[in-house]
Amino acid sequence: MEKLIVHGGSPLKGRVNISGSKNSSLPILAATLLTKDTCTIRRVPDLSDTNYMVRILGELGAEVERASGVVVVKAEKIKSVAPYDLVRKMRASICVLGPLTGRLRKCTVSLPGGCVIGDRPVDLHLKGLEALGAEILVEGGDIRVNAPKKTFKGSTMNLMGKHGSTVLGTDNIMMAAVLAKGTTVIEGAAAEPEVEDLANFLIKMGAKIEGAGTNRIVIEGVKELHGAEHTVIPDRIEAGTFLCAGAMIGEGITIKRVLPEHLKAVTDVLKKCGFPVEIGKDSISIAPNPAAKGFDLTTLCYPGFPTDMQAQFCALACVINDVSTITETIFPQRFMHVAEMKRMGADIDLQGATARIRGGVKMKGAPVMASDLRASAALVLAGLVTEGRTDVNRLYHIDRGYEHLDDKLASLGAQLERVKE
Ligand code: EPZ
Repeated sequence: MEKLIVHGGSPLKGRVNISGSKNSSLPILAATLLTKDTCTIRRVPDLSDTNYMVRILGELGAEVERASGVVVVKAEKIKSVAPYDLVRKMRASICVLGPLTGRLRKCTVSLPGGCVIGDRPVDLHLKGLEALGAEILVEGGDIRVNAPKKTFKGSTMNLMGKHGSTVLGTDNIMMAAVLAKGTTVIEGAAAEPEVEDLANFLIKMGAKIEGAGTNRIVIEGVKELHGAEHTVIPDRIEAGTFLCAGAMIGEGITIKRVLPEHLKAVTDVLKKCGFPVEIGKDSISIAPNPAAKGFDLTTLCYPGFPTDMQAQFCALACVINDVSTITETIFPQRFMHVAEMKRMGADIDLQGATARIRGGVKMKGAPVMASDLRASAALVLAGLVTEGRTDVNRLYHIDRGYEHLDDKLASLGAQLERVKE
């Protein structure tokens, strides 16, 4: 295993290119299973999660070629059983459930395990497939779907759960419904940009979809889909992570190749705190502000403040000389980073799903344990501004979802090194 040694205190300055979105790439790669034609997906980030998805497609029988950020998939003949040993390693593999159901009308996909950010149920995915006429059997850790032609057809459903809508659940139902006879209406759909990006790819394949990017999506089933080419949208969470870094230390940075409108909830908070945020067509600049004010935010479904930026804002709050609060409503247990930041001297009080951070206290580097993808990135951010050395262990969490994070931070002036643990 590897760890990242972060030497705190180096100022950040300069520009960095943001990679393609992990959370867009994964469902779009899964969607290539919906056609036997060739699909070309561009700007797929080089991550262990996207590597897993490429391996899953291959194990399902697709021919897959990958050259740097371009993945070419030809799923001429595919199997109906997703490989357990791969699927269990990445929760997002659940997004092969929809395309396998749509294309084959039957499939077996192992139940994704939980993870450190909390329980990861799939009841809404299954509710949606049942609404389309599929028979679902969950046994032995597997989800078995059978959607015979005579019963598999479009219908109206609501995918809203107690923690809001479901991103991958919306993706799965969309990918099944595009080949289900008749009209499907998804009420309570997730409106995240990654869902809209998937819909745009499906439309290029010949699907009939309206309303993607809103909470009501209408799909007219078609007989089959053809191949298509698509470039994945920029990763708004990687972008937001770098904006936090630029606000925390140095003389200001610019992130390039982004879609600023996807980050509005994040830049709105940064502006309200008093950070100098400049928004361009495909770039955003930011710099620290010693007089920045604290924030009070609550994570919500898009277009609200994203849960995937919550840990990074905990780190940012530590350098604001004020009190900030963060309430997590999507994954109420998603605070693994708090205990680790407190080891570095952070003053954070966690009450239920609300963290209260008193910033401006002197923190000291310490060995810390990465737990989930975004918590790990937040610990790196904390290390950047903390005196001394911070060892972020279990770096594989970061490599799951950030393309060359350490190289990009080093190019901005951060002092860090990747070593074997
Ligand atoms: C996607 O996960 C993202 N992952 C997550 O990003 C992100 O945190 C999450 O959406 C919320 O925005 C990918 O896109 C690959 P959900 P997903 O279904 O779709 C509950 C990252 O760091 N729920 O939208 O799995 C669930 O427990 C990752 O990049 C049900 O109750 O999340 C949660 O509380 C982490 N039943 C809420 O809904 C269901 O059937 C939102 O989950 C499904 C979900």
